[in-house]
This record gives sequence, structure tokens and C-alpha cells, in this order.
Amino acid sequence: MEVISRSVALVINQQVTEVVNYPGPDGFLGFRGSFMMDVVVVAMALVLGVMSFSILQVRRKRKFQFHKQLQLGLGMMLLLAIAAFEIDVQFFSTWEERAALSPFFDQVHQWSSPAGISLLVHLCFAVPTVVLWTVVIIQALRHFPSPAAPGAHSRQHRLWAWIGALQMLGTTLTGWTFYWLAFVAS
Ligand code: HEM
Repeated sequence: MEVISRSVALVINQQVTEVVNYPGPDGFLGFRGSFMMDVVVVAMALVLGVMSFSILQVRRKRKFQFHKQLQLGLGMMLLLAIAAFEIDVQFFSTWEERAALSPFFDQVHQWSSPAGISLLVHLCFAVPTVVLWTVVIIQALRHFPSPAAPGAHSRQHRLWAWIGALQMLGTTLTGWTFYWLAFVAS
């Protein structure tokens, strides 16, 4: 079958895309990312959407308890996504193999190639984001009344929660940049 499709592609003068069998389950976005990488790429869009909605609910409508429930849901979702992603990367897929076809990746100088640098930049956002979100959520649960309402903790929460929200935006944008450089570009 492959011989026929290659011949047809050559006759109509199209480029023949390389079929590579990577270890671990493949993604569903149609690029070289693994299944879990694709799940995380889509989940981050969802996280940004729900987080913006949650902040609007507290800012414009003063729905504090709804905001609390949404943020706790997001926190759980993130923990699950990180756990699944780590299991995938540690035991099933190797991102370096999947990035090998990218012009922005060099296996010999992987941490000085654009894809490697973008991964380091992404980690500089992602790791502090996980730490800050954990602190913001624990502090909010300890210091706001239940059901959630403004109080003595409001000023501190608004400051650190906004920083956490912006960090999450940075984590998503740098994560998508890495994904593009490593698994989309060819
Ligand atoms: C990482 C998780 C969270 C983020 C990113 C977040 C984000 C925010 C932001 C940006 C605001 C300020 C909105 C404004 O400018 O007026 C806010 C306000 C608020 N949040 Fe959160 N939040 C989180 C978790 C929680 C949790 C777990 C609770 C409850 C236990 C909570 C309760 C509140 C309350 C009561 C306010 C209103 C404070 C006031 O204006 O007096 N938040 N949140």
C-alpha cells in the first residue's frame, strides 16, 4: 500500500511525508507529539479559558464560591495532567526522538538548539507555576471563610493569585512554542 501511495504522490509531484514509528502512543493533533503531549497542549487551552472565566466570575459578578470551585477543579486537573505527562515522558515516549525531524532541534547540541532552549524557558515558567498555585490554593483554603468570601486575606490573595494567573499564561505560551519548534516544524 505504502509503495502505491508513494508512487502516486511522486506522479502528482507532492512531497512524500516520512512515516516514523516512535515509541509510545502517538498524538491525535496530526503532528509528531505523543498522545499525552497532545492532551496537555489541548488541556492548557482549556485551563486558560476556565481560569479567565473564573476570574471574571469573581471580579464582575462577585461569585466567590463558584470561583473557589472552579479554581479547585483546575488545580486537580493540572495535577492529573502533570502526573500523566510525567509517566508518559519517563516511561513511554522520548521527546528527543520525536523532535529529531525538526530543523530547530539538534540531538548533539540539544540544550543549545532553539527547541532545547525553548524547553528550558518553558520549565522556568512551569515549575514556579506549580509551586505558586499550590501555595495560593492552600493559603486561600486556610484563610478565606467557607463558603468563600472576601476578608483579611483578600489583598494578599489578589496579588499572588494574579501573579499565578500570569505565570499560567506564560507556561502555556512557552509550552506551545516548544511544541511547535519540536514537533510541528519540519
Ligand atoms: C491558583 C488558584 C487561584 C487563582 C489563580 C485565583 C485567582 C484570583 C484572582 C486573580 C482574583 C482577583 C480578581 C480581582 O482582580 O478582583 C481572585 C479573587 C478571589 N479569590 Fe481566587 N484564585 C485562586 C484560588 C482561590 C481559592 C482556592 C479560593 C477560595 C478558597 C479563592 C477565593 C477568592 C476570593 C474570595 C476572591 C475575592 C477577593 C477580594 O476581592 O476580596 N481563590 N482570585
